[in-house]
Amino acid sequence: MSNSIVAGNWKMNGTITESLRLVSDMKDELHRIQGVTKILFPPAVALGSLANLVYASSIELGAQNMHYQPSGAFTGEISASMVKENCSWVLLGHSERRLFFHETDDDISQKLLAAVANNIKPILCIGENLGDRESGKTQQVIQEQVSKATSALQTISNLTIAYEPVWAIGTGKAATIDIIEETLGTLRSFLTSEWGDAGAKAPLMYGGSVNESNATIFGESEYIAGLLVGGASLDATAFVSLTRQFAAAKSS
Ligand code: PGA
Repeated sequence: MSNSIVAGNWKMNGTITESLRLVSDMKDELHRIQGVTKILFPPAVALGSLANLVYASSIELGAQNMHYQPSGAFTGEISASMVKENCSWVLLGHSERRLFFHETDDDISQKLLAAVANNIKPILCIGENLGDRESGKTQQVIQEQVSKATSALQTISNLTIAYEPVWAIGTGKAATIDIIEETLGTLRSFLTSEWGDAGAKAPLMYGGSVNESNATIFGESEYIAGLLVGGASLDATAFVSLTRQFAAAKSS
């Protein structure tokens, strides 16, 4: 695995047929981009078909969510062992899960524990909303999200964190590089003081209106190890282009 990551979160977009087409359209070019781990998070129903399609390529797959129980009466949910059949990553605590599905920090903590116990690599999503930022509470909010989510873990050596300010998601208004660097810099100090070496090394990603015109700027920042891309990951040309730009910026 490379230290740099570009991940595409498709959210609830695309049938299995459409997912196969989208991956076919980006697969070869994406595969050839080196120096960056490329992960796609399609809807869970498409994971099996896509696992066959990306087999033997450098493209990795992940689930957008999972339940913490191993099995049982949880209608509509998927478990770690179901995720593991087709992929090795899982997104946890995305702001849309927190907002629309009332996921709590405690739920996310249990999910993280289940992911780690099952050798699934979690990407923990955190981020403040506009009110938090305007009232100067950004660090307090995101540190609390991290602390609560990781409270049951022994180490965070397998954890990747994606900083996604809620006000930047899907708005076309990405956070400025100054805001991101300030936030990630303070978050890094916090992680290091809490978790030592593992905290100093945990990859920190940025997400929120990432596109072809800002991927290079983000790639040039030493604070940003990866990008979590929503809307632009649904366009094969845009996603390949921004991944290429990010990889180029990281290697220069
Ligand atoms: P966006 O979404 O790139 O469409 O802003 C990012 C995300 O929700 O992960």
